[in-house]
Parts: sequence; structure tokens; C-alpha cells
Amino acid sequence: MILVVGNTKGGVGKTTLAVNLAIARASAGRDLLLVDGDEQGTALTFTQLRAERLGQAGYTAVALTGAALRSQVRQLANKYNDIIIDVGGRDTGALRAALTVADTLLVPVQPRSFDVWALDQMAALVVEAREINEGLRAVAILNGADPQGGDNNAALEMIDDIKGIDVLATSIIRRKAFPNAAAEGRAVLEHTPRDAKAIEELTALVAAVFV
Ligand SMILES: Nc1ncnc2c1ncn2[C@@H]1O[C@H](COP(=O)(O)OP(=O)(O)OP(=O)(O)O)[C@@H](O)[C@H]1O
Ligand SMILES: [Mg+2]
Repeated sequence: MILVVGNTKGGVGKTTLAVNLAIARASAGRDLLLVDGDEQGTALTFTQLRAERLGQAGYTAVALTGAALRSQVRQLANKYNDIIIDVGGRDTGALRAALTVADTLLVPVQPRSFDVWALDQMAALVVEAREINEGLRAVAILNGADPQGGDNNAALEMIDDIKGIDVLATSIIRRKAFPNAAAEGRAVLEHTPRDAKAIEELTALVAAVFV
């Protein structure tokens, strides 16, 4: 399975979800490749920190952008069980390339109007990518959602109206465990003190994405 975690909106939790999904799959025994398609290299920096802290990352990470991303991912697809591609928060060559080779696009979205409006741009990119990559599945997930209140539901309804991208029933609430775990090179699954809710949400996301 080739998964791209993408959104032309920045700071929505792409890298956070990409590394958490990578670790979840790798610890379930999958041979996993994490592709950092963002020139800022946050996923690689995280992986380096992780390898230093834990002795090994448990997955392979490489940086690839633009046309190389497309050709390399194609070549590496049969060497790994799963490939997860993290991209930057803009309309980049890496994002477009990833969309042409991916099975699934996961779009993290925060329950804020600016973030939801920006989804139209993603929907347009999905339409374009499907001309080449017919079977591309596109799903959005509410990330950094409020613990309660009506904003989540309002956002979910707005996302539901966007054609070409389905919205997952499961959301990820804004929880300290995500940045705290990341600061130590860990996924929420490995973090102490254990945040059972964060783990439950991440596990639900894994199940919804890797079908
Ligand atoms: N569910 C969450 N709960 C709490 N904090 C979160 C959550 N998801 C992401 N964050 C925090 O939000 C910030 C942005 O997350 P992240 O870097 O993963 O976003 P991004 O979409 O990859 O950003 P960029 O577009 O710059 O690549 C980080 O500080 C991260 O720790
Ligand atoms: Mg990022």
C-alpha cells in the first residue's frame, strides 16, 4: 500500500500522522518505507532523533522530491509492504508526483473554516491525479479536533460536501501526547505516560486507512 499524507495547507498534522502511522505499521511487522517529500525534512529529522534515542527507527526513511519521488517510489513499491509519503504544506511537485503513484491520499484537516476552505484545492488536485491514477482513494480526517463542541461536526459536514474526497468517521483530537511523543522520537503508541485515547484514535485511523 502506498499512502500519501498530504494537504496544500500547512501545519495540519501531516508529518505527525505520517510518522505515527509509519511506526504503527512497522511495529505490526510491516516492512515500511517512509518517504520525506518535504524539503524542510521534518520526517527525516524525526527519524534521525528516533534512531538515536531507540537505537533504530524500525523503518527505512528517505528524502525524495519531484520527478524522482515518482520513479523511486514506483521502483521501491515491491521491496516494501507499505510506503508512507509525507509532503510539504503547499502545492508542490512532490505532492503531485505522490498523487500519481499512491493508492490512498490521507488529508488531515483541522476543524477551522480556513482549513476546510483550502480543501477545494486538494479536491482539484485529486481530480487531476485521477486522470493518470484512476484508482486513487482520497480520505480526509479531522485532526487536532476539539475535545468537544459543535465545531467538529460543522467541519465534518462541510468536508462531506466536497466532491472526490471522503471523510473518515474517526477523528483525532488535539492531544499533548502527539507533540510530546514526537519530541522524544516516538509515536503515541510508545509514549509514557500512556494516553489511551490518543492510542485508540491512532489505531482507528490505521484500520480506516490500511484496508
Ligand atoms: N492531534 C494533534 N494534537 C496535538 N498537536 C498536534 C496534533 N497533530 C499535530 N499537532 C501539532 O501541530 C503542529 C503541526 O503538526 P505537523 O508538523 O505534523 O503538521 P504538518 O502538516 O506536517 O506541517 P507542515 O505543513 O509544516 O509540514 C506540530 O506542533 C504538531 O505537534
Ligand atoms: Mg510536515
